[in-house]
Amino acid sequence: MQIDIISVVPQLMESFLNHSILKRAQEKNLLTINLVNLRDYGIGNYKQVDDYQYGGDAGMVLMCEPLSNAIESLISKNGAYDEIIFLCPDGKVYDQKTANFLSLKNRILLICGHYKGIDERIREKYVTLEISIGDYVLSGGELAAAVLVDSIGRLIPGVLNNETSALTDSFQDNLLSPPVYTRPEIWDDQKVPAILLSGNAKEIDTWKYEASLNRTKERRPDLFEK
Ligand code: ADE
Repeated sequence: MQIDIISVVPQLMESFLNHSILKRAQEKNLLTINLVNLRDYGIGNYKQVDDYQYGGDAGMVLMCEPLSNAIESLISKNGAYDEIIFLCPDGKVYDQKTANFLSLKNRILLICGHYKGIDERIREKYVTLEISIGDYVLSGGELAAAVLVDSIGRLIPGVLNNETSALTDSFQDNLLSPPVYTRPEIWDDQKVPAILLSGNAKEIDTWKYEASLNRTKERRPDLFEK
């Protein structure tokens, strides 16, 4: 899978994308992440990428031309995208279902807004999906893009060591994960539930399922209803 990301501050994502699971995914050639600096497509000597917004409100807006040049150049180099996604607070709220959907794509392009956003005409012409990572406003789309790449990357077969572990993540079946424990058996007078030490795989599965149900009912009744 290839994920291209257009941003005015790609450095913000560099370290995050080159560590841990995403690093391994790239080393195994299961995932290619290509950071594109919008400034490289800026206009004039100053490589301008933003301008004042029409209508008099405060805040700069990313201009059409640099974004369009960046997108067209990527398409002409590598071919069309399966999805062109704009990260924005007014997009569809991101969830595991969308992560699953996107993990089945071959090529996606993420566009990070900055300042007050991007010119609406770019959204009209190129963007196929608009995604928000929650009901709060970030300074730019970079953190949101990192959230998408991480959640999608871990779903690509072969990326996680234990292939089943993404399948048992919270939310995969609208349930939160059960509590987990590691050694020692007793810590601070608190014991690991005896069933987990029993070695009885079937009973352990039942316990975990019930713990998931209870946790979801208690903490996320909205998910439980589903
Ligand atoms: N850009 C600014 N705020 C955002 C949000 N909540 N989700 C995605 N992109 C954003």
